[in-house]
Amino acid sequence: MQIKRWENFNPVDSLLILLREEDCQNLPSFDDEVKEILSALVSRKDFTGKKGSLLRVPLVEGTLYLIGLGKKEKCNLNLIRDSLAWGFRNAGKNHSKSSAVLLSHLKEYDGLTFALGEAGGLCSYVFDSYKTKGKDYEPFSLNEIYSDVCDDDVSAGMKFADAQIFAREIANEPGCAVCPSTMADKATALAEQYGLDCEVWDEKKLADEKMGALLAVGKGSINPPRLIHLTYKPKGTPSKKAAIVGKGITFDSGGLNIKPDQFMLTMKGDKTGACNVLGIMKGVAELGLNVEVHGFMSCAENMPSGSAYRPDDIITARNGKTIEINNTDAEGRLVLADALCVASETKPDVIIDMATLTGACMVALGKNRAGLFVNDDGLSAKILSASVKTGESFWRLPLEDEHIEESLKSPFADLVNAGERYGGAIFAALFLKEFVGENIAWAHMDIAGVDFKDKEHGIYCKGATAFGVRTCLEYLRSL
Ligand code: BES
Ligand code: MN
Ligand code: ZN
Repeated sequence: MQIKRWENFNPVDSLLILLREEDCQNLPSFDDEVKEILSALVSRKDFTGKKGSLLRVPLVEGTLYLIGLGKKEKCNLNLIRDSLAWGFRNAGKNHSKSSAVLLSHLKEYDGLTFALGEAGGLCSYVFDSYKTKGKDYEPFSLNEIYSDVCDDDVSAGMKFADAQIFAREIANEPGCAVCPSTMADKATALAEQYGLDCEVWDEKKLADEKMGALLAVGKGSINPPRLIHLTYKPKGTPSKKAAIVGKGITFDSGGLNIKPDQFMLTMKGDKTGACNVLGIMKGVAELGLNVEVHGFMSCAENMPSGSAYRPDDIITARNGKTIEINNTDAEGRLVLADALCVASETKPDVIIDMATLTGACMVALGKNRAGLFVNDDGLSAKILSASVKTGESFWRLPLEDEHIEESLKSPFADLVNAGERYGGAIFAALFLKEFVGENIAWAHMDIAGVDFKDKEHGIYCKGATAFGVRTCLEYLRSL
């Protein structure tokens, strides 16, 4: 996609205008010709600016798209970003090759041009690489966007979009196409492209390094586990050192505690945390941020078989803590446990982990808001303020609960890996805390449920969302 300033009103296939209800009552100062058409449509009440409305008006040359933003008091940048993506997607599906969008009347929204870059970058993405493109196939045609507001932030927004698309594209791949070694190949290729360091630990190295928890989860699969470590170092002296850790279960069948059918479907998405790490590393490199960033992806396939780890097994994690397995489906916290130990050893100022960790988090917060657990109020405030800018919503949940903490204890080992159903997201977060080094600010994002969309909406298409990539990049950019 190319996004440029709209100079001299060069002809385009479609013209997009986003209007709030108040704008319809009192039209902003557009070009005379545009204003004339708009006043006719508005006075006939063909278009009132109602939220989610779209009016498509064929003109002599090109098509006009009017998109309603609703009431001014409820309008925000997030809605504008989604509406832009929706409008561009519509235009692209209707054969527009070029679109212009008028935005100068919305300048009061901070980050407007950034959102334009993001929406323009994301509007065309769909996961359709496996579909046979028959004679009825119509490719998305839009590849040029013009706007009356355009600055350097547009390209930053487009880099954010590329990072998300990169993460989504891998997350959408099924388990038959992506296993732990595939994740390592993707990381190696990314490292080569951007000059990052990349270290991959295979099953032998994992054993030498005492990664007992990751190895246990991976035992049941013919596709052995991998720990992948990408490092980005800025040109100058870095302002901070951050580690991002992602859960990379390339398929979660539940293991011997096998999932019932309707819960196993979509579990190709259990690697989203790790895919997000790849997207973030790409974004960090593209943006040339002044932070040292270590990306860890803890990858395994959770399968039932004769070699699988069992309920009742007692395993030893990298930091020496022993874990009694009471449910093989609580595997994400295990692969993260070892990875959090390794991440802590690099002595970062901050660790953020991302994981499709618990169904309990989905039950608590629904499918549009992720759970956030943080051991440091300052870090929590920074992540939450980044998330307000990016439009990804998080809700901070407690990382303290004496009763749940008590239930982490095992009669035979240091910890059990799963507790009762109630408070399941908190249990998992408290479990992870046992593997984070002392005095490190740490945040855990439970992205179960927000990682995939059932249908297309705003900047999202059906499938993987890369939820968390934007907020992490925005946070890292603020350091
Ligand atoms: N990957 C799942 C969590 C999940 C569920 C992600 C639904 C996305 C959508 C995780 O490994 C899991 O199975 N968690 C169990 C834990 C339980 C056995 C303690 C869960 O949440 O049911
Ligand atoms: Mn599981
Ligand atoms: Zn899982």
